Amino acid sequence: MPEANAKLSVDELLALDREHVWHPYGPMPGQRAPLVVESASGVRLRLAEPAHGQRELVDGMASWWSALHGYNHPVLNAAARDQLERMSHVMFGGLTHEPAIRLAKRLVDITPEPLAHVFLSDSGSVSVEVAIKMCLQYWRSSGRPGKRRLLTWRRGYHGDTWHPMSVCDPDGGMHRLWSGALPRQVFADAPPPGFDAEPDRRYAAALRELIGRHAAELAAVIVEPVVQNAGGMRFHSPGYLRVLREACDEHDVLLVFDEIATGFGRTGALFAADHAGVAPDVMCVGKALTGGYLSMAATLCTRRVAEGISRGEVPVLAHGPTFMGNPLAAAIANASLGLLLAGDWAGEVARVAAGLREGLAAAAGLPGVRDVRVLGAIGVVELDHPADMAEATRAAVRAGVWLRPFGELVYTMPPYVTGDEDLARICEAVCAVARVA
Ligand SMILES: Cc1ncc(COP(=O)(O)O)c(C=O)c1O
Repeated sequence: MPEANAKLSVDELLALDREHVWHPYGPMPGQRAPLVVESASGVRLRLAEPAHGQRELVDGMASWWSALHGYNHPVLNAAARDQLERMSHVMFGGLTHEPAIRLAKRLVDITPEPLAHVFLSDSGSVSVEVAIKMCLQYWRSSGRPGKRRLLTWRRGYHGDTWHPMSVCDPDGGMHRLWSGALPRQVFADAPPPGFDAEPDRRYAAALRELIGRHAAELAAVIVEPVVQNAGGMRFHSPGYLRVLREACDEHDVLLVFDEIATGFGRTGALFAADHAGVAPDVMCVGKALTGGYLSMAATLCTRRVAEGISRGEVPVLAHGPTFMGNPLAAAIANASLGLLLAGDWAGEVARVAAGLREGLAAAAGLPGVRDVRVLGAIGVVELDHPADMAEATRAAVRAGVWLRPFGELVYTMPPYVTGDEDLARICEAVCAVARVA
């Protein structure tokens, strides 16, 4: 075992990694060696040693869609340093501080109108847990405890903790293992694809009927608006969000939008809900909230939901993560939102969209490619077979790009600051992966 501070070679690091470190969605011990990243700056990841001839990779993933402004950003670094010198953390029970207050105010200002209150937590999945707890508690406090199930559409993804798993796609993906153990929720068919497609009347009617039929037991409908992300990178018409809003109002069911992946401009609107002009009762944001620097998420709700909870026999929201409202993360989130809103985020996302459309067009004619689609700063090439991860990684790295396909999907969600040449390079890498994987 090396001394605590001894310099470790890349081989030593990888041997220890294999021995001790459990990676996301991986076996233990790991079977494929990960790439060791030494540093990151702008849109580039610098590897500790070259892989397939490349030492630097253009990041097509923005660290799972969070690093909007790229890495090592001087404004975000300064915000972190400044806050570190004051305090990196204090508990949030009984104490408060300016970074969290400013952040909550700003989130209320930029999210759809009736959202008024903000519960800060430490990850997207936890923010979804909090959203669900809010909805169930709202009905319990209103004397209707039987309203405790959730309705969602298939092909969704809301996180890996227990209740969010229960509203992920029940058949596809990783959570099938737990069917029978998870709470049983109500599933509608996946929304018909196509952002620009006219809403399908039969589908909309079926959605309304399902909500009506289960209304007595439903606390809430929860969906990813406009883009279903980790459940298949599928885009749908914003019209379905209006259908959900109307049906929820008609049948006394709360509506939750999970904007963890879509928030802060990713789809071309500041929030995906804005495409539909619809406001949810509860909304989750995360991922890009801190510009990818630290883990933080937020659950917003309306006055009606908060007042409903406060009327109950237990008039508090019984949730309090240790690192709730972390000042360091909140200060960086404020700086990141400041950067985003002061700049031309809409123009930048439109530029990225145009670059992705142009660069990915070549994939459409490749054998094994089922569909190519772009919305905002999201580019997707869907294959007609699952991608071979080892081949895919090799092809992308050879092209000087970091990509991480899943299932049949080779996709990119790059930082908005990715320049045109780097965008073209990402697209070439996506096409290279589609050719071999
Ligand atoms: C829509 C959506 N909800 C929830 C989550 C879970 O967030 P986290 O990974 O921060 O727990 C994700 C993560 O990919 C997501 O895309």
